[in-house]
Amino acid sequence: MASTVKMIGVIGGGQMGSGIAQLTAMHGIDVCLVDVNTQALSTASSSISSSINRLVSKSQLSQDKASDAFKRLRFTTDLNDLSLADFIIEAIVESEDVKKSLFLQLDKIAKSSAILASNTSSISITRLASSTSRPKQVIGMHFMNPPPVMKLIEIVRGADTSDETFAATKELSQRLGKTVITSQDYSGFIVNRILMPMINEAFYTLYTNVATKEDIDMGMKLGTNHPMGPLELADFIGLDVCLSIMKVLHAGLGDNKYAPCPLLVQYVDAGRLGRKRGIGVYDYS
Ligand code: CAA
Ligand code: NAD
Repeated sequence: MASTVKMIGVIGGGQMGSGIAQLTAMHGIDVCLVDVNTQALSTASSSISSSINRLVSKSQLSQDKASDAFKRLRFTTDLNDLSLADFIIEAIVESEDVKKSLFLQLDKIAKSSAILASNTSSISITRLASSTSRPKQVIGMHFMNPPPVMKLIEIVRGADTSDETFAATKELSQRLGKTVITSQDYSGFIVNRILMPMINEAFYTLYTNVATKEDIDMGMKLGTNHPMGPLELADFIGLDVCLSIMKVLHAGLGDNKYAPCPLLVQYVDAGRLGRKRGIGVYDYS
């Protein structure tokens, strides 16, 4: 199936959706990127252009390949434009209700053979699939941020995901140059089940005045060779995304150790969402 994927639909043109669209276009697949917000589409278009042009200026991509990638990208606010897509990747806000209502709509628009994948960081694939008439063709395809750079895709099988859907998603991931890991459908899957409690603990470390934000980040960067400290990484991911994931872990796994740190909650309440807003734990202005 994946080798016959000629057109991919990506829904959500934020930092993940735009990165996924760039990656797929650079691998010779036509992409239609959908967002409800025209401003988000124009930001996505300019960030993809500057990222591709940067690769050309560093001689990591030929001008011909860059031109081909640009030709393959389309931007739209109309979900109906995905009626011909072979494979659709949802990358909208991390909310079960909003994603379910999108999957319900998508099920009516997408062709019957299309696979519906979610880039969710933590939400149950089985429950998203239950809002469609094709649960066998629904799967988690979890890219890491930034998608053009990170080497991993975490594939999540819902209770009804078929072997054919899994094989097609794995083949597509490999065609995009990624290494695949597979998770069963439990809150946070593999990566965020482990990463987010660390980030949350970093917030508790700051909240309880154990150390400054700079020392917490430096400790993990130089002490454990992480490319970014946990607070810097939280700003990079988006504090709203981190909080949503912690809430899913807390509700789904039931243990109080997953309770979101009050400082993380307060930052999100204050609109300090991280790099994308210019302020989070750090000030980027
Ligand atoms: N698109 C394309 N390329 C990008 C990019 C982007 N958005 N951001 C960075 N790059 C490229 C740069 O062009 C550069 O390429 P070269 O080495 O060939 O010049 C390379 O990546 C390194 O970038 P920089 O020199 O600008 O900066 P850096 O060395 O600090 O690396 C980073 C940036 C790759 C993001 C690195 O800091 C890093 O790996 N950070 C940790 C990222 C991480 O942990 N991601 C996973 C988050 S968890 C997740 O995603 C799951 C979830 O559900 C929340
Ligand atoms: P983001 O806030 O940057 O972008 C979300 C985009 O979705 C926005 O442009 C918004 O306008 C759009 N949107 C919202 N509702 C929509 C709808 N109904 N139809 C079409 N577009 C809609 O978010 P993000 O960080 O790109 O995260 C997107 C998804 O990817 C989330 O599920 C998140 O958990 C997951 N994810 C995020 C990261 C990360 O590091 N940020 C990493 C892996 C996975």
